[in-house]
Amino acid sequence: MKPFLSHLECGNCGHDHPADRLQTVCDVCGGPLLVRYRLDHEDMPTLHEILDRRPGQFRFPEVLPTEAGSSTPTLGEGATPMVRAARFGSDVWVKDEAQNPTGSFKARGMALAIARNVELGATEFCLPSAGNAGGAAAAYGALHDVMVDVAIPDNTPRPLIEETRALGATVTLVEGTIADAGRLQAEKAKANGWFSVATLYEPYRVEGKKMMGYEIFWDLGGLPDVIFYPTGGGTGLVGMVKAFDEMEKLGWIGSERPRMVVVQVAGCAPIVRAFERGDEFAAPWEDPDETSAFGLRVPSALGDKLMLDGLRQTKGTAVAVTEQDMLAATERLATEVGIWGSPEGGACVAAFEQLVESGWIRSDETVVLFNTGAAAKYL
Ligand SMILES: Cc1ncc(COP(=O)(O)O)c(C=O)c1O
Repeated sequence: MKPFLSHLECGNCGHDHPADRLQTVCDVCGGPLLVRYRLDHEDMPTLHEILDRRPGQFRFPEVLPTEAGSSTPTLGEGATPMVRAARFGSDVWVKDEAQNPTGSFKARGMALAIARNVELGATEFCLPSAGNAGGAAAAYGALHDVMVDVAIPDNTPRPLIEETRALGATVTLVEGTIADAGRLQAEKAKANGWFSVATLYEPYRVEGKKMMGYEIFWDLGGLPDVIFYPTGGGTGLVGMVKAFDEMEKLGWIGSERPRMVVVQVAGCAPIVRAFERGDEFAAPWEDPDETSAFGLRVPSALGDKLMLDGLRQTKGTAVAVTEQDMLAATERLATEVGIWGSPEGGACVAAFEQLVESGWIRSDETVVLFNTGAAAKYL
């Protein structure tokens, strides 16, 4: 949506970049870039007008980067169910992102990243993935008829790998974590001139994920008190914090914010550790433990500062859960809510229970937990 798109701004050093050419990270400091819009534009629709439109990822294209706007090719992302979890508490909800194309919230980010970077001229894409992002990238590669090359850790469940292959991407299995896969893809991108859509290495995945923040507001008719987000690279967290800032600039809300909660696994919790230490950046986690929450085995993240800033600005917190608690909570998500979710979704339930127990959450507060993926892909 050209009249609304303004420029790219570095989330770490604030340096501006044009938004009309292919761009990865900040030219000055290497930090992640965020898309800025002319939110005070005279043609900006009102909230009322937006609510009259069809729900879905492209309901509000004025705050999305593609020139195609509401005609951007889509597989039907967004408008995911907001499910009341009455057995967890009086005002507890689960945003079920497994209902997206390819069974995870990764579809939201890839829908925008592939579409916008194709508009800007990219035809060959690569990324490292814990599985869900690879499947999503492959799907949008098919939709846009562009090449996608994915490196995935070799201990990833077969359905995640097979989905990525079935959707037409080239897959390389890598020994180690997503950080090792990331190093391989960075080399391949350089050698072959491929465009990397690794988490936060380009500005547009965040734009897709940010729609989760808008949708929560639309689903509930206002902001919740607390949002739990299972955090690896952190695009969703960064995106939702950005959405709330945009909503304030649009005049929809005041300075109030939901308290954002980063949820990680105890065997790989770099953001939790940095938050507890009061650090501005997160040191890489050495030797992450194996976990069934493959999306959370991310030892270092380019968006570390943005995430930590977001937690502090919203008076949120960061919680690590044990593997055992996460798996037990994944079962409760299935048997007490009716959502057969990914372990990452179960991690949010376990973290929620921990913070209720400690008194950090009051029983009358409105709480949103994210289920980010479908269990069937983890078998
Ligand atoms: C199901 C699931 N949940 C959560 C995450 C973490 O997401 P992010 O890297 O955006 O923090 C991932 C990442 O792979 C995932 O696949």
